[in-house]
Amino acid sequence: MYLAGQEEIDAIARVISSGALFRYGVGGECDRFEERYARYLGCRHFALAASGSNALAAAMIGVGLGPGDEVIIPAHTYMATATAVLTVGAIPVIVDIDETVTIDPAAVEAAIGPRTKAVVPVHMWGAACNMDAIMKIAERHGLIVIEDACQGVGGSYEGRKFGSIGHVGAFSFNYYKNMTSGEGGGVALNDDAVAERVRCAIDPCHFYWQGRSDASQPFAGNGARASEIMGAMLNVQLDRLDGMIEAMRAEKKAILDGVAPLGNLGLRPAPVNSPGHDCATQVMFTFPSAEAASRFVKIFPSVIAGKTGRHTFTEWDQVLKGAGAAHPAMNPYTMAANAECRTTYPDSLCARSLDILNRTVMVATHPLHSRQDTDDIIHNIGAAARVVFGELSEAEADLRNVKAVDAQKFDMKLEA
Ligand SMILES: Cc1ncc(COP(=O)(O)O)c(C=O)c1O
Repeated sequence: MYLAGQEEIDAIARVISSGALFRYGVGGECDRFEERYARYLGCRHFALAASGSNALAAAMIGVGLGPGDEVIIPAHTYMATATAVLTVGAIPVIVDIDETVTIDPAAVEAAIGPRTKAVVPVHMWGAACNMDAIMKIAERHGLIVIEDACQGVGGSYEGRKFGSIGHVGAFSFNYYKNMTSGEGGGVALNDDAVAERVRCAIDPCHFYWQGRSDASQPFAGNGARASEIMGAMLNVQLDRLDGMIEAMRAEKKAILDGVAPLGNLGLRPAPVNSPGHDCATQVMFTFPSAEAASRFVKIFPSVIAGKTGRHTFTEWDQVLKGAGAAHPAMNPYTMAANAECRTTYPDSLCARSLDILNRTVMVATHPLHSRQDTDDIIHNIGAAARVVFGELSEAEADLRNVKAVDAQKFDMKLEA
């Protein structure tokens, strides 16, 4: 979800008029954004990339992951979290989420094996992972923590910004995110040497544009350099971010307060790891059964987390079918270096996650919702819950006309 208006149009127009579309040596927008966003996150470095997928892979390359390593990831995340692991030659080990729809720390600890090198907590749908628990587990077992904050732009865990808590954090600025430049992404981190490697992974020619240093050796990587158009748009988007997040947090609180009396009936908000700090892009409810969740979304159009396709491991063909690379000789699933890694996935994998996801309903917030919009949402949640929990018949549910919201895509724009 994002908001964009005349300021973005003006900023992009300025870059095009200036002719300075290349970030190195000519333009200054990418540099300015990287500095500002690093400061916003409380990190030493932020390196822009062309996508969140590329940022994840660059982060993994930066910290030195590769063949022979297993990386623990959650059963519910966009498939790029898994494919990034494969692109660096490592093996993703998929573990359960809990009712917060984020990675279950107990499942992480239980899955650690002799080849486990890293874990990727994903702040899915803007909800916070249990970062204190994950960081403690990582410390105990010497794991690297790569935070996938692609869906968590602007959110925090107990006051610390998503993406700044682990050893390295990856962000996406694609069309569906809280800040967008159409496509885009980047890596946040503190370590200077890792930052050099991340920048080389994003642009193998980066040492040429920015000056050679004896401290690091360039290696081959795919080009995913950011453009000045991206930087210009993100500089405007960053100014909007906190206001949007505050508005969504206020709406989430209003919805949760408004539906609290329905707790007596059986309506249960999903547990959250950092109430009041996360992005608040969704209000989630955990239903007692998948049937109850299906009935609810039929009455009040909203989204079942388990029905969002690409976000659940059952849809990740590259992983489940072992097609880990374009060329068979580079397929991590068959590489000799990965012989001691767990390269197969049982049919029973993460059944608990599938059960939770099919019982979890998400109602989207929006920073431009009026108090009336929010009241209508509260009313409709109440009406649908009363039907689901048997207090009303479907015919008796007097739903208000709320604009149907697609949780993946919001098309509401600021007036230009
Ligand atoms: C959790 C998560 N990780 C990674 C990505 C990849 O980002 P991009 O689409 O910018 O490549 C996304 C994008 O949707 C995502 O949601």
